[in-house]
Amino acid sequence: MKDSVFLRACRRETTPYTPIWLMRQAGRYMPEYRAVREGVSFLDLCRDSEKAADVTITAARRLQVDAAIIFADILLILEPLEVGLEFTRGDGPNIREPVRSTERVDTLRLYDVRDRLAFVYEAIRLTRSELTEMPLIGFAGAPFTLASYLIEGGGSRNYILTKRFMYEHEPAWHRLMSLLATLVANYLAAQIEAGAQAIQLFDSWVGCLTPQDYVRYVAPHTTVALSKITGRVPVIHFGTGTSGILRAMREAGGDVIGADWRIVLDDAWERIGTDRAIQGNLDPVTLFAPTDVIDRAAKDILRRAAGRPGHIFNLGHGILPETPVDHVKFLIDCVHEASAAGRAT
Ligand code: CP3
Repeated sequence: MKDSVFLRACRRETTPYTPIWLMRQAGRYMPEYRAVREGVSFLDLCRDSEKAADVTITAARRLQVDAAIIFADILLILEPLEVGLEFTRGDGPNIREPVRSTERVDTLRLYDVRDRLAFVYEAIRLTRSELTEMPLIGFAGAPFTLASYLIEGGGSRNYILTKRFMYEHEPAWHRLMSLLATLVANYLAAQIEAGAQAIQLFDSWVGCLTPQDYVRYVAPHTTVALSKITGRVPVIHFGTGTSGILRAMREAGGDVIGADWRIVLDDAWERIGTDRAIQGNLDPVTLFAPTDVIDRAAKDILRRAAGRPGHIFNLGHGILPETPVDHVKFLIDCVHEASAAGRAT
């Protein structure tokens, strides 16, 4: 397994073809997932280790991808902070009691992630024992993206509350980010002990920041979040809208840096530096296009990677719920076939 195509690419070793997996590969676009979700709420599905392992494995096998990602959510780590996390149908996540004052930050208590999130590690163990043919990725949200949910209370367009808090209450901001970084560091270490063979850190919304603010308010905490696992398994550091901070993200940590579709892959890789691997970067909406357009877009990305070791094919962000499954499968086959042929000639 150490020699799987995915793990080799994370280490920038040569591979016979370009590995591919897809963020949110187990999700609502897939009929098998929707069938499981009919009988159970999203949070209960996450808490049921057997069902979560099953959903992870079903998606990975159906798609024939090169890595599986454990079925969970970045927001589970916020639940024991007692902020009223809920997932409402259609509207996504909601925090009923968001954190909007310095006093409130100081009521948040560090807790034992090994105890409270034990169902995630059990899902990892179950998945590993069954899914022996491909590596398993564990994951967590990065401190900034988690803080944005805590402060906004849900998704946001402009992150005004988050940024205002950061600017007005800098010491309390750093206390909040430190707390989150410690929780994430412990959570990731426990996932590796349970058997995760790579880790992805999702800083999905960090691209809303100026590069200066990223360096001042975020990067040091990201480094702490990754500190316990650096060098143990490959780490993928992912965000969207990050074209202007790719270099700073690389400095904060990660063996593989994620790029979204708003930048061409060769340009992104140059910014990151070719002494790191890269993951990306097809626009998820391309999967709604006719297959000849998907084929062209995928091959353009492969051409830009130019066969250089260290490219993991993925979307620039998660698969959208309405995506046609046969187009997802088409993409995976296309990447495998085109990259293998390219390497043979
Ligand atoms: O297959 C996988 O990629 C593993 C599972 C996974 C989920 N969430 C399951 C999920 C992963 C890796 C995540 C990460 C996650 N969760 C992120 C980072 C990735 C990204 O998209 O940027 C974020 C921001 C979240 C928070 C979150 N969870 C949102 C905004 C939503 C609602 C939007 C949506 O797509 O539904 C969720 C819910 C969620 N997480 C679902 C799934 C399969 C849908 C829940 C359902 O079944 O109704």
